Amino acid sequence: MSEMPPFSGRVAVVTGGSRGIGRAVVLALAREGAHVAFSYRKAAKDARDVVHAVERLGRRALAVASDAAQPDETEDFVQKARTELGRVDIVVANAGIAGPAGWEAVSLPAWRETLETHLVGAYSLVRAARPHFPVAGGSVTLVSSISGLVANPEFLPYSVAKAGMLSLTRSLALALAPKVRVNAVAPGWVRTGMTAPLHESASSRETLRRGIPRGRWGEPDDVAAAVLFLASDMARFVTGETLVVDGGGSLRWRAGVAD
Ligand SMILES: NC(=O)c1ccc[n+]([C@@H]2O[C@H](COP(=O)([O-])OP(=O)(O)OC[C@H]3O[C@@H](n4cnc5c(N)ncnc54)[C@H](OP(=O)(O)O)[C@@H]3O)[C@@H](O)[C@H]2O)c1
Repeated sequence: MSEMPPFSGRVAVVTGGSRGIGRAVVLALAREGAHVAFSYRKAAKDARDVVHAVERLGRRALAVASDAAQPDETEDFVQKARTELGRVDIVVANAGIAGPAGWEAVSLPAWRETLETHLVGAYSLVRAARPHFPVAGGSVTLVSSISGLVANPEFLPYSVAKAGMLSLTRSLALALAPKVRVNAVAPGWVRTGMTAPLHESASSRETLRRGIPRGRWGEPDDVAAAVLFLASDMARFVTGETLVVDGGGSLRWRAGVAD
């Protein structure tokens, strides 16, 4: 008899699942047995393709156009997931935007959009999902970044938002204990649309690759594997933690060692 996949019968809610890391997370969860509701902002065709890919795996999928920066839309998204798929066990706050925004030039609207998408977005998602977690418990994973662990004046609102998500992870882990575990992943350089200008240029791709001890850029599936671990029973005694997924790229500066 074949074994049941680990997330069989569970329902996951993922923001920003149409492309990149979020897409990989949606498909990885579905491969492991979960039905998945995911949001997207603009990429309707990509979202439809993800729905079909989940359905080909034999799971149910729901794609909802919902702006992570708008708490009301997030509330509706989670409610739809609950109504259509019946429950909410796993939550992944992944939706994000990035763009260079140097500390002097960054505009107030850019500050607001970045903080509201990442930080208010993650908070609103957890607040909307909280009443739906089963008595047996659930899990939340926030997709932060190594940018949240380092000073980054060239991407100021982004790194502040990602640092805020790490603080939010720890506070929510306490607030939602003992029923719900809350953790974060902090990816390094990952090949997605967000980083296309860097990995599509041979020189910046190679310069950044040389700084990664594992010898290659990260792929969306590398991050999805870490999210899967944190959402799984293997991480049943882990909460409030940040798992860095960067091929060792931040080891030197995280240890306080200069190049
Ligand atoms: N790539 C990296 O190197 C890297 C490193 C560290 C952390 N991260 C983080 O990983 C997460 C995913 O990034 P990625 O590289 O996969 O980016 P991506 O390829 O640009 O994909 C971003 C996804 O988020 C969605 N999204 C963006 N803004 C949204 C909003 N306001 N509401 C709902 N959905 C929204 C997009 O939907 P539409 O396409 O429909 O607009 C898309 O599905 C982000 O939080 C990012 O900060 C990425």
